[in-house]
Amino acid sequence: MKLLAALLLLPALYVTSPEQGPASSLKASVERGSKVYQTICLTCHQADGLGVDRMNPPLVKTKWVLGDKKALAKIVLNGLKGGEIQIDGDEFHNPMPPQATQLSDQQIADVLTFVRNSFGNKASAVSPAEVKAVRKAIGAPAGPASPAAPVKKAPVKKAPVKK
Ligand code: HEC
Repeated sequence: MKLLAALLLLPALYVTSPEQGPASSLKASVERGSKVYQTICLTCHQADGLGVDRMNPPLVKTKWVLGDKKALAKIVLNGLKGGEIQIDGDEFHNPMPPQATQLSDQQIADVLTFVRNSFGNKASAVSPAEVKAVRKAIGAPAGPASPAAPVKKAPVKKAPVKK
């Protein structure tokens, strides 16, 4: 009888401990990623993820944000030169600075999980292991040693907007 009571209690325990389970680990990653976003990505992609016309692209439901996680991690690790991508025929002329040496695998995973679950986006989490594999595959330099390393702001270069 004791065993039965314990079994009946199990699901209740699971529900009352919100620290466990995949849903809350997603939430924790999104929270950490939000801080990385505010420090590094926000200046260009803006608080609402809508970017800046002709300079920085929106992060709302684009094929990069919602698509292949390897390609997405590569963009953040290596950066982009400017004019490399097009969204509905629009080009964006700012360069995107590489983050390989600025951010750890964990921080990149968190910020991408945040972006994939913000601004109206809904997609699976990105794990540090996935970022690590891409970093290795493309030969990107190592990130900060500690996953908790303070996030440093990269210098922002503005490309002239052609009128
Ligand atoms: C200095 C401005 C700048 C910063 C900082 C920046 N980006 Fe970008 N990002 C750009 C520009 C400009 C492009 C497009 C470049 C091109 O077309 O060559 C881009 C492209 C992208 C893309 C692919 C296109 C899209 O809109 O889906 C993603 C995803 C992205 N950035 C995510 C991030 C994340 C995440 C961060 C923070 C870790 C970040 N960016 C930091 C300017 C920036």
